Parts: sequence; C-alpha cells; structure tokens
Amino acid sequence: MPVKLAVIPVAGRGTRLVPLTKSLPKEMLPVGRKPVVQYVVEELNRCGLERLLFITGPTKAAIENYFDLDVELVNHLRETGKEELLLELAFEKADLQYFYTRQRRQLGLGHAVLCAESFVGKEPFAVALGDTILGINEKARVVERMIQVFEECGADAVIAFEETPLEETFRYGIAAPADLSNPEVFPLADIVEKPSPKEAPSQLAVASRYIFRPGIFEFLKKTKPGKNDEIQLTDAIQALIAAGGKVLGVKVAPHEHRFDIGNFESYFGAFLEFALADPDFGDSVREKMRALLHEEGSCR
Ligand code: UTP
Repeated sequence: MPVKLAVIPVAGRGTRLVPLTKSLPKEMLPVGRKPVVQYVVEELNRCGLERLLFITGPTKAAIENYFDLDVELVNHLRETGKEELLLELAFEKADLQYFYTRQRRQLGLGHAVLCAESFVGKEPFAVALGDTILGINEKARVVERMIQVFEECGADAVIAFEETPLEETFRYGIAAPADLSNPEVFPLADIVEKPSPKEAPSQLAVASRYIFRPGIFEFLKKTKPGKNDEIQLTDAIQALIAAGGKVLGVKVAPHEHRFDIGNFESYFGAFLEFALADPDFGDSVREKMRALLHEEGSCR
C-alpha cells in the first residue's frame, strides 16, 4: 500500500516559547514570509502525500483556519486590484485533503501519534512534526526518499537523521546505527533519547520525519510515560527495534537542514536565514545586518 497519509502533530504547548505561545500556536510563527506549518505542508505535498491529519490542541484553531479556502480574501484582492497577491494564496488550492483531531491531553509526542490510530487504520503513514522546517527554498525531498526506502526494503519504520554537533546531542533522539557501510541509508540497532555527548552512540539526530506501519500503535500503547510524564515516540521505536522490527535511518542532505522552531535561539536563527534568502528583501536585510554588526563592533 503506498504511503499517502501524513500525521502532523501540532498539539504541544510550546512552553519554551512562552509568552508567544500563550494564544498563538508555535507552528503558526512566521519564518520569513510564511508560518512554519505551511512549509511542512508544502514539503509533504512535494513528496507525494495526499491526506494530512493534524493532531491539534485547544489553542491551535488558527492552523485549521489557515488552510481553509478564504473566498472573502480572494474576492477582496480581486476587487481592489491586488491580483498579484493571489499567488501568495496558491497553497490553498494544493491537491490535499485536510483532517483534524484533538489530542485532549498533552501527554507527549508518542501520545499525539497514538491519537491518529483509528484514522490511520491499516495504512502505512508518515509523521512530520509541525514545528520543524526542512531546508530553505522549498527543496527538501527526504520524505520521498524515505517512502522509497520503506517500500523497497519492506521496513517497519524509516526515520530521517541529520548530523548534529556533539554538544547538541542532549536535545534530540540519537541513532545507534547497526552498520554504517552505507551512510545514507542504515539499519538501526537502537535510538537513544537526548543522550549527553559522552553517552551519544553517534551524532545522527532525529530530523522530525518518520514513516511507520500501523504496528507502531501497539508499541505506543505499551509505552509507559517517561520524562515529564509524557509518552515518548522514541521509547516506542526502541521497543519496535528490540522486538526485531526493521527500522532504517535515512540521512537528510545538507540542503535539507532541519530548522527547529521549538526554542527562541533556533527560531531567531531560522528567521534570519529565511529573511536573508528572500528573493525580494534578502539583500536589504543583509545590508541592514551588516550595518548593525558594524555598529556593534565599533561600540566594543
Ligand atoms: P515538542 O517536543 O517541542 O514539545 O513538540 P512541546 O510541548 O510542543 O514544546 P515545549 O517542550 O513545551 O516547549 C514537538 C512537536 O510535537 C507536537 C508539538 O506540537 C510539536 O509540533 N506535540 C508535542 C504534540 O502534538 N503533542 C504533545 O503532547 C507534545
């Protein structure tokens, strides 16, 4: 069965971005010209996914509104002679079906994925975290490669990984590859959640994209709440590997670099990179930044 369904968890509270996330979903934060989740949806569309199930929460209604057709705005732009702006709304017409369900208690990413169980049924499916952009300039196609590997190898799960600096391993799930003879696609012996640099089995960090068979739900159901009383997706993947499941890693390419919008430091960095890459305003932003850095330098 081909992979056509993607689950996009967007229900997390985003406490690391308080006060921004008090009423605004972090997945709706602007990065350059678009909200984070629009990049995610466009990436999945590019990779051949057709149905998107969002796992949402109480403060996330803005996401549903965003992907609706806004006929009133379209008419307004036409009537006021701003047709050129209609291009900015082209994403509304993408050949995608949107579905939404609520995670009624924020019990972690693993629990959010479990909320998709009855919708998923017997299909394999992708998971893409709604707060993470892959690549600048809309080029990332790692999910497409993951689906290919998943189908060709008959895997139980395929996970995207990106090389991370050793001092950053404590932020992510880290791969313990069973064999790295092919560094682009490799079997996993284990996956370790947020290890210290000393304990990290590699520098390959989970890059927020996954492909699963529905069998993962059985492992999620058996997963006990871990850190912060949350059900961790990594724990269920560990259990799947321990039970003999075939779990493969696929490495993201350098141009598919992960932008994590979950904390201020990486959010600010992502915004700057996207602003600098903007085809219309990149150059003026660059000039402004140079001037600011120059001023800062001369004040020291
Ligand atoms: P995070 O791990 O960043 O958790 O979520 P969080 O709760 O949103 O953020 P903090 O730690 O409070 O700052 C990664 C992705 O998983 C979703 C989030 O919306 C985000 O897209 N998620 C997380 C859920 O859908 N439900 C959860 O219970 C937790």
